[in-house]
Amino acid sequence: MLSRNLLERDNRIEHRQDQPATSEFARDLARALATRPRTISPKYFYDAKGSQLFDRICELPEYYPTRTELAILRANAREIAAQMGPRAEIVEFGAGSCAKVGLLLDAMDAPARYLPIDISGEHLAAAAASLRAEYPGLDVQPVAADYTQRLLLPATLPGAGQRVGFFPGSTIGNFTPEEALHFLQVAGQVLRGGALLLGADLVKDPAVLHAAYNDAQGVTAAFNLNLLVRANRELGSGFQLDQFAHCAFYNAPQQRIEMHLVSRCRQQVAFAGQWHEFEEGETIHTENSCKFTVEGLRALAAKAGFRPGPVWTDSQKLFSVHWLYAPA
Ligand code: AVJ
Repeated sequence: MLSRNLLERDNRIEHRQDQPATSEFARDLARALATRPRTISPKYFYDAKGSQLFDRICELPEYYPTRTELAILRANAREIAAQMGPRAEIVEFGAGSCAKVGLLLDAMDAPARYLPIDISGEHLAAAAASLRAEYPGLDVQPVAADYTQRLLLPATLPGAGQRVGFFPGSTIGNFTPEEALHFLQVAGQVLRGGALLLGADLVKDPAVLHAAYNDAQGVTAAFNLNLLVRANRELGSGFQLDQFAHCAFYNAPQQRIEMHLVSRCRQQVAFAGQWHEFEEGETIHTENSCKFTVEGLRALAAKAGFRPGPVWTDSQKLFSVHWLYAPA
């Protein structure tokens, strides 16, 4: 669950919370193993190796979201920059490699500051360094934090324009509808009087979706299985990696891709001094990736208090980018 506490600290950035603590991962894995169906948050995918694998996913021929969203941003950069106005500050939720913000920065009128927030601290620090090299005048202040837990942001700069949230990649699709609503409400508070630029993947032919999460090179499979690699390394669990398989499918009634790790046989897994039974075919549910309609996303945003503004899509209607005005 997203926490309710939201703090703005004067001119201070919180570097303290790095990745979710190992203890949090241990607690969530223990919970996942004890509960049916077994479910764990996709945020644990993103250790250094997982972040690298995700970057490779974004380049896959089957994985259309990244390149489609980039094309939408590129094609509409002027219009988006005009919405931002002069001296705007960008707060990016889940910035990862900071690969998309350049398109905005290039088009913006004197950006005041860029605050990338990401759960993977190392990955973020490297990305921030290369962005500083590319934009020498830009104030880049990375915030290594789990933005699903709390949003600790420095106060707005004196003389700055509006604060614009940037949440690309359809990461909002990882949330349940309730979590998405709560995230938007919290984001609306930190962005008061500004706006949120949000990327949302659209409902489409299930075959296209299926291919995007079952790539021929097996990178998505490696990304999914890396969760177990990470658990074995960090938590000392005894998952046998070759006894679990990647499974991703489109759940049409729920409008979402589900990713699971499927037990290939009846087996027992050692974790935290206990044996955990898996039947053949039993799964750990590792991710939901919800798909949206343009109208559905706008309705959700409105429910969270935003006023939906312009929407940009590609000609095939694969992906959407939304300008959402945050309440003052
Ligand atoms: C980062 C959550 C948007 O759901 O498409 C990619 C993650 N998982 N391939 C997505 C992901 C498998 C991605 N998001």
